[in-house]
Amino acid sequence: MLELNLGFRLVSFLFFTSLVQSICNRGCDLALGSYYVEPGTEIASISRYMNTNISNIVRYNPDTITNQDSLPSFVRINLPFPCDCLNGEFLGHVFNYQLRSQDTYPKIAQVWYANLTTADWIQRFNVYEPSLLPDNANINVTVNCSCGNSSISNDYGLFVTYPLRPGKTLDSVSSAANLSSDLIRSYNPDVNFSQGSGLVYIPGRDENGNYPPLKTSSGDAAFPLHSTK
Ligand SMILES: *[C@@H]1O[C@H](CO)[C@@H](O)[C@H](O)[C@H]1NC(C)=O
Ligand SMILES: *[C@@H]1O[C@H](CO)[C@@H](O)[C@H](O)[C@H]1NC(C)=O
Ligand SMILES: *[C@@H]1O[C@H](CO)[C@@H](O)[C@H](O)[C@H]1NC(C)=O
Ligand SMILES: *[C@@H]1O[C@H](CO)[C@@H](O)[C@H](O)[C@H]1NC(C)=O
Ligand SMILES: *[C@@H]1O[C@H](CO)[C@@H](O)[C@H](O)[C@H]1NC(C)=O
Ligand SMILES: *[C@@H]1O[C@H](CO)[C@@H](O)[C@H](O)[C@H]1NC(C)=O
Ligand SMILES: *[C@@H]1O[C@H](CO)[C@@H](O)[C@H](O)[C@H]1NC(C)=O
Repeated sequence: MLELNLGFRLVSFLFFTSLVQSICNRGCDLALGSYYVEPGTEIASISRYMNTNISNIVRYNPDTITNQDSLPSFVRINLPFPCDCLNGEFLGHVFNYQLRSQDTYPKIAQVWYANLTTADWIQRFNVYEPSLLPDNANINVTVNCSCGNSSISNDYGLFVTYPLRPGKTLDSVSSAANLSSDLIRSYNPDVNFSQGSGLVYIPGRDENGNYPPLKTSSGDAAFPLHSTK
């Protein structure tokens, strides 16, 4: 009976872990979100959505943002944020967003957050039904992130959460990052880079233009599973 019970618990445990895919035990101080700037988007708005200040945004985009009063359009900028281990289940960060009239979860994901997240993924962390979003209320906007992977390389410890866009391929994403396709592929083994949507993770540069190396064991998949709480 005891054995049966243990067996059942093991099976349900394995089932649960396969559902959540990767389990984390810690995050990292910094990740970057790749934000595609549509015309008319102001840096002040982006800084509000991403809960960071304008000088911090400019710092990570010295080549793209030369004048903070006129943000170029149709370019990607990298936005810094902390990458946390959320509920011990996945790496992400919960941004605070204040609802405005006409906001919907899809609009918040696709327009204000430039597809760094999805409507479903926003809704998952909020009590509000999609049809009943109260003006001015604060909601949680969760954006996934990565801290690297020591099984792949210790040379990269800062990662960009990068929403794919239509017309892109593994090669175009890799050459934009000036990194090899093999390297980018190794961090995103199951992704179809031509699918036109969804997130990939690519090594990113710090504010000095360098690739920071992986800090020992930061953000790795969290085995052993019975961590000391
Ligand atoms: C902007 O944010 C950075 C990082 O959080 C902080 O170090 C800096 O002091 C802030 N600057 C201003 C002007 O608030
Ligand atoms: C986000 O995705 C939607 C649907 O694919 C697309 O229409 C929109 O242009 C994308 N937004 C950005 C900022 O890339
Ligand atoms: C974020 O990661 C979780 C866990 O891997 C996944 O289930 C979810 O779909 C991801 N969200 C987005 C918007 O990619
Ligand atoms: C946002 O997340 C926090 C922490 O999980 C939760 O207490 C709060 O109710 C959430 N906010 C909404 C609007 O659901
Ligand atoms: C691209 O990477 C190569 C080495 O891998 C380097 O020599 C070159 O300067 C880089 N180009 C840019 C624009 O960073
Ligand atoms: C990848 O996505 C594109 C666009 O949806 C599709 O045409 C292509 O067949 C997909 N490739 C694979 C290998 O599934
Ligand atoms: C790290 O990379 C290894 C080998 O490619 C893979 O099996 C593992 O799932 C990766 N871990 C994470 C957290 O992505």
